[in-house]
Amino acid sequence: MMGFEAPVAAVALLSGTLSGDLVETAVKTYADVAAIFAETEALPPETPVYEVQSYCPAPEGTEGGLFFGTSRIFPGKVNGEYFMTKGHFHGKRDRAEFYWGVSGQGLLLLMDAKRRCRAVSVVPGGLYYIPGETAHRLVNTGDEPLVVGACWPSDAGHDYDTILEQGFPVRIREIEGKPAIVESEG
Ligand code: F6R
Ligand code: ZN
Repeated sequence: MMGFEAPVAAVALLSGTLSGDLVETAVKTYADVAAIFAETEALPPETPVYEVQSYCPAPEGTEGGLFFGTSRIFPGKVNGEYFMTKGHFHGKRDRAEFYWGVSGQGLLLLMDAKRRCRAVSVVPGGLYYIPGETAHRLVNTGDEPLVVGACWPSDAGHDYDTILEQGFPVRIREIEGKPAIVESEG
């Protein structure tokens, strides 16, 4: 008779932490992502800016499959600009994604193909649908890690170059002790 199988991966619902043999963890340090900030600051290069755990049960590029992840953006600033992710369009531009807030406070920057940008508050329990053709970046405006779950198609891929070259039209800076959205000067 067939036995019952144990799950191959797990998500701790309150912390977002993923576990299982197929779960991978990648850390981005200040040295890795310094170029995304408007100005540089003499932070130790090994300072972790964010960490992504991912569970990718199908080969990258599989049509019809799904990937699952947890992003943790650590609290911090570079010359007043809050720690954030690199941000990307999906390589297959029409691929959508779900994000949901687990803990911490922040913003989700969304930018369409015409560079029209929106900033949406990310709060625990908030559910965010990122349509296709939309670049997305997470910004931690709080003083604890911003933890966000994600689920995206396994054939979405990532286009980082467009954002590295052109950036987002806005930046999120601390002004008079509070997060403010300011026009990007490059
Ligand atoms: C996947 C996705 C997230 C991000 C993660 C890190 O499509 O949107 O899992 O990959 O938040 O951000 P990036 O990839 O922009 O460095
Ligand atoms: Zn994405």
